[in-house]
Amino acid sequence: MSELPYLSGFGNQLASEAVPGTLPVGRNSPQQVARGLYAELLSGSAFTAPRAENRRTWMYRRQPSVVVGGTAYEPLPHATWKTGAAMGVETPPNPLRWHPLPIPADQPRDFIDGVRTIAVNGDADAHSGIAVHLVLCNTSMQRALVNADGEMLIVPQQGALTIQTELGWLHVRPGDIALLPRGMAFRVEVDGPTRAYVCENHGAPFRLPELGPIGSNGLANPRDFLAPVAAFDAEPQPMEVVRKFGGSLWRTQVPASPFDVVAWHGNLVPVKYDTAHFMVIGSISFDHPDPSIFTVLTSPSDTPGVANCDFVIFPPRWLVMEDTFRPPWYHRNVMSEFMGLVHGQYDAKPEGFKPGGMSLHNAMVPHGPDAEAFDKASNAALAPHKLDATLAFMFESRWRFKCTEFALRGGALDATYPACWSTLGDRFEA
Ligand SMILES: [Fe+2]
Repeated sequence: MSELPYLSGFGNQLASEAVPGTLPVGRNSPQQVARGLYAELLSGSAFTAPRAENRRTWMYRRQPSVVVGGTAYEPLPHATWKTGAAMGVETPPNPLRWHPLPIPADQPRDFIDGVRTIAVNGDADAHSGIAVHLVLCNTSMQRALVNADGEMLIVPQQGALTIQTELGWLHVRPGDIALLPRGMAFRVEVDGPTRAYVCENHGAPFRLPELGPIGSNGLANPRDFLAPVAAFDAEPQPMEVVRKFGGSLWRTQVPASPFDVVAWHGNLVPVKYDTAHFMVIGSISFDHPDPSIFTVLTSPSDTPGVANCDFVIFPPRWLVMEDTFRPPWYHRNVMSEFMGLVHGQYDAKPEGFKPGGMSLHNAMVPHGPDAEAFDKASNAALAPHKLDATLAFMFESRWRFKCTEFALRGGALDATYPACWSTLGDRFEA
């Protein structure tokens, strides 16, 4: 698909109209909206949230969403989409790693069918925690999804996604991410076998991290986040709408698709971001900073500096530090770390951690470079070196993850993982 038109910015007040003259001027809900449209507000924060955190969008649409959302919903069973720590199973304090799961081709599976939850924490009703999903699908959604339990951060790993939202279209491919607001209808089109990682964020909406001494430039720059322009279905067709609500899925059939927004303005908007635009900061002397320096987006918790979830990437970058063990050091962290690999190699695990694979190092679970990476990094000549053609990422959370039944017993768990450190002998020279 050719590049779509986009608006630029993150958290900005944006505005778009698919039909000129439909966006009200000077007021949000005039007595009559142009061309017979209805005004509708979607809020992403409490009305009284501080201005910097306040998010809402006004939509001007052909029918208010209560028309399509007010009909009776029936349960839609989904065996592998889990929500909140209560739906996890007892998880051992081991380092855990998974092989890439194949994308089933035996029958059509859309984005909803394809959700396989790997790890959960928190509680969607308490607006805390996240769920980490792998989505394995091969067919475009012919239905819409409205997720009341959280925003969806999508990290494509294989295959491009074209996402229709109430506010317009986004096209993402591996290397990009998409962030879809809580409660906004969307559907995902794919063009073949597709694998994506998804963070379903039940907590505070993702935002750009503060920059502190870094200053006004660097990491992910706001203008590189792209929002859709307004677009609506010219001839709305009957459609199934699926709602995720309280950890369960519900379905109903509606007479017209919810993609009927002709104009909108606000700062609660779906966005996409190309991780190639991330300005990486690192040491230019010795040692390396904490991996928080790689944070793209953060969902804060109610404790300052302690994230409900940080989305962190490890993109291509130069390593130039002198007298330094350059891969990540051995560590046990209070935060819990879920990792995925979009493509290439991760420097702490040159083998075994494959694109499409996953790892989980929960709170206080020790981990670090495998024996091969340790030997190589300890003896390498420290010339400037570029880690190229690689993109790993992390969903890091203050809440310990519980794995799902599918994750622990679905066949992809790498039982050999703990052995990757077994040859790290006692090297002490007494
Ligand atoms: Fe780690």
